[in-house]
Amino acid sequence: VEDGPALAVGDVVELDIGPVAHGGHCVARHEGRVVFVRHALPGERVFARVTEAKPGSFARADAVDVLVPSAGRVAPPCVHFEPGGCGGCDFQHASADLQLTLKATVVAEQLDRLGGIKRRVEMEALPGDGFGWRTRVRWGSDGTVVGPRVYRSAALVPVTTQAPCLIAPPGLTAAARSVTGVVGEVVLTAVDDGSVLVTPPDATPATVVETVFGREFEVAADGFWQVHPGATEALVDAVLEYLPDLTGRRGWDLYGGVGLFAAFLADAGADVDCVEADPVGVEYARRNLSAFTGSTVHAGRVERVIGGLPAPDVVVLDPPRSGAGRAVCEAIAATGPRTVVYVACDPAALGRDTATLRAAGYDLGGLRAFDAFPQTHHVECVARFDRH
Ligand SMILES: C[S@@+](CC[C@H](N)C(=O)[O-])C[C@H]1O[C@@H](n2cnc3c(N)ncnc32)[C@H](O)[C@@H]1O
Repeated sequence: VEDGPALAVGDVVELDIGPVAHGGHCVARHEGRVVFVRHALPGERVFARVTEAKPGSFARADAVDVLVPSAGRVAPPCVHFEPGGCGGCDFQHASADLQLTLKATVVAEQLDRLGGIKRRVEMEALPGDGFGWRTRVRWGSDGTVVGPRVYRSAALVPVTTQAPCLIAPPGLTAAARSVTGVVGEVVLTAVDDGSVLVTPPDATPATVVETVFGREFEVAADGFWQVHPGATEALVDAVLEYLPDLTGRRGWDLYGGVGLFAAFLADAGADVDCVEADPVGVEYARRNLSAFTGSTVHAGRVERVIGGLPAPDVVVLDPPRSGAGRAVCEAIAATGPRTVVYVACDPAALGRDTATLRAAGYDLGGLRAFDAFPQTHHVECVARFDRH
């Protein structure tokens, strides 16, 4: 929190742009006051319009004119990627290589600041050109427009077939245009045959079959599944690389969803306790794991369930954006698994939980980071912690 000269929403100020920060923006200072600037890149000089300026706090701004561009700047291909526009993408104005560098910097910075660990991070790209990968979206609908939201606003972005969402497959915007008279949130799911399933609010979702390394998983059309088509295999591969010897071991798959990691752990010879809170996810996980007689799906919240489970040799956890939290990390550590593999969709949560695991006797033994959400600031990390 900084004090500084008055800045008001709508002011246009000249800024020298500093490092990237977590959240899809860069840090600048205006006469001492921190300003988080979107649509800018490190090293640039820009004119930026102030979008938020609460007294006694940092301000937010949007670059509206670039005076000195970064060498990594490119023309954003989507018309909705503009100041005051769509909040779905953060980095369309950066080259693919620069996006990887920006995201690696953020992961390293969060691990250092929150987890107390200095690591060089390499961001791995997934297959594809960085567009058309978003196979699932949850978009707003006001009865006429169905689309993503404007950045930090409830307003809808009017995507059209002429100006579609470029990170989703083309058919997805077209399917959104066909939805009328629905108010609330609509889930659109692109499936392998090229069609798109529409799940309006309160509708019973269809079942989608997803294939990972030849293994089929059933999942609700609006349930949790990695949205990038290359993500599940990259993550499963990384998790198994960190857990090489599973025969006869007992494993936990916490925040297990429909049993993705549990199935591959069980296939590698482990008896798995999979814990999932969402009753629909639990139902699908039970189906997906039915062939593995040594494995069990437990319905309920991780923090309540794990106290009653037999101690594991290895743990995989893949919590939501908020992370597992101190109590769950300490409870895992107290059972003494030799390896904990943490799949993280938020590097800040990973940083915080890393600090807890380290204090409870675990070292960060390995870290991989994947650009599973190109054009956005989001990343997936897989971290291995070893008991020391
Ligand atoms: C990031 S998803 C991971 C799912 C699965 N590992 C996958 O990759 O498909 C997180 C999952 O945790 C579940 N969840 C959220 N909070 C939970 C909690 N406190 N206890 C158990 N499950 C929870 C969500 O329903 C969701 O399925």
